[in-house]
Amino acid sequence: MTPLTSTRPPRSGLAPSPLAGSRTGLADVLAALTGAADAVANARRPEGPLPAGTPAEVLTAAARALGPAELPAEGLGAEAALGLLATVLTEHGIDLTHPRAAAHLQPPALTVAVAADVLANAGNASLDTYDSGPSAIAVERWLITALTRLAGLGERADGVLTPGGSLSNLMGLLLARDAAAHRRGIDARAHGVAALPGPVVFCSELAHFSTHRACAALGLGEAAVHPLPVDDRRRMRPDALLAALDALGPDRTPVAVVATAGTTDFGTVDPLPQIAEIAAERGIWMHADAAYGFGALFSDRLADRLAGLELADSITLDLHKTGWQPAAASVLLVSDTTAFTALDREVAYLNPADDSEAGYDGLLGRSLQTTRRPDAVKAAATLLTYGRTGMGRLIDTCHDLARHAERRILAEPDLELVSPAELTTVVFRYRCADPAATDDVNAALRRRLLETGTALIGRTEAAAPAPGAPRRVCLKFTLLNPTATTDDIDGLVAAVLDAGRTCERHIKENAA
Ligand SMILES: Cc1ncc(COP(=O)(O)O)c(C=O)c1O
Repeated sequence: MTPLTSTRPPRSGLAPSPLAGSRTGLADVLAALTGAADAVANARRPEGPLPAGTPAEVLTAAARALGPAELPAEGLGAEAALGLLATVLTEHGIDLTHPRAAAHLQPPALTVAVAADVLANAGNASLDTYDSGPSAIAVERWLITALTRLAGLGERADGVLTPGGSLSNLMGLLLARDAAAHRRGIDARAHGVAALPGPVVFCSELAHFSTHRACAALGLGEAAVHPLPVDDRRRMRPDALLAALDALGPDRTPVAVVATAGTTDFGTVDPLPQIAEIAAERGIWMHADAAYGFGALFSDRLADRLAGLELADSITLDLHKTGWQPAAASVLLVSDTTAFTALDREVAYLNPADDSEAGYDGLLGRSLQTTRRPDAVKAAATLLTYGRTGMGRLIDTCHDLARHAERRILAEPDLELVSPAELTTVVFRYRCADPAATDDVNAALRRRLLETGTALIGRTEAAAPAPGAPRRVCLKFTLLNPTATTDDIDGLVAAVLDAGRTCERHIKENAA
């Protein structure tokens, strides 16, 4: 009889296995990566965080390095293929470990997370059914439980990993939509939401645009979004939420209020306890978009800012932002696991009822995806490696860097602070002698930093926190590199000033 476990000898000394998941497959993956590591080490890295050149020049050079865009008749072999791609990615790509990479909520990934991702990929388990990856299901459950406890949710809480914060927000609003429809006696899953009268989703005017896209995708329409004004600290005004709710006629259905815990640009947190109280009083779903802000919970110093998060019905959190994971590692948490009933599905080839009753069940009913990557493995490895204290140190370090940047900006007459360091971002402007040219100069100086490859900083638009104030082009440091130093921040500020002066001069000369 053939034994169930492999009795094959270890592969050492044999040709590498082409299959990553075998007993020795991971060793073969590591061997393949050693060649790629040599290629990365020997590649000509750009001096800055981006290769110098216009986008057309950089993309053309990368395409040329890749060679003809056609399948080779005969394969190159793994060593050559990986070496080629490692070189192209290094020589023509972004370096998020560079201390002057400070544009987006896109951190450098932690080594342990990348290693764990390789491990997870090698097994190629999926989360949908028990028989596509039992241990991956156990790891995701472990991670979800750990995160629900960190968030302060109760015993009925649950969650699921998704491919991004936008998708977590979509899922949260899908559950909210179906709950609102259910209250009106409508089966949204079977019949859609055409019969749901005048759906409304409240959020602050600074909510992430994925809320709008989710409403469009869910058939509520973008017009369902009711943006509410913010206070002088750029937080949703609960009085405005109450007034908007009071003004709703009987022909409207309040579906959800989306509170942002960490706005993309400013890191500001909406008043979660007050919003939760209003939502509970009016029987509306509260979704907290903590895609960016959730990382504050790792920190003793910052965790208080998220007080009230535990009152939300659903929470988006992105460990590929303030958890230093390679994308994607987004999570949707729910306060009550029965919220997922809306996603339940019995499929003959996956989870027939008798199999499920016998315990042969997976996580298909928590997700819109069927095949689903075990992204929890890298996140679990990271949280086990660092613990809450270690993760807290990472976020505190980045917060300290942001506060240093804030002080430098305040001390610099040619810069204007637009928004302070709430979490790890700082928004500011370069001041021009000619105020009319300021927007153009700020936009141009950022492009100059990108084109010269000197620094990678963010750009956004912001109004002064006053009614009717115009939106102006601003610059943004998003500081997520915990190995950067205050000297690096000083260098970043100096690069901005230098590019600002050059662009101001050019724009003035061109206008003359
Ligand atoms: C507050 C907030 N929500 C949602 C998102 C969307 O996340 P993702 O880019 O992972 O889809 C972002 C992205 O920056 C964000 O800042």
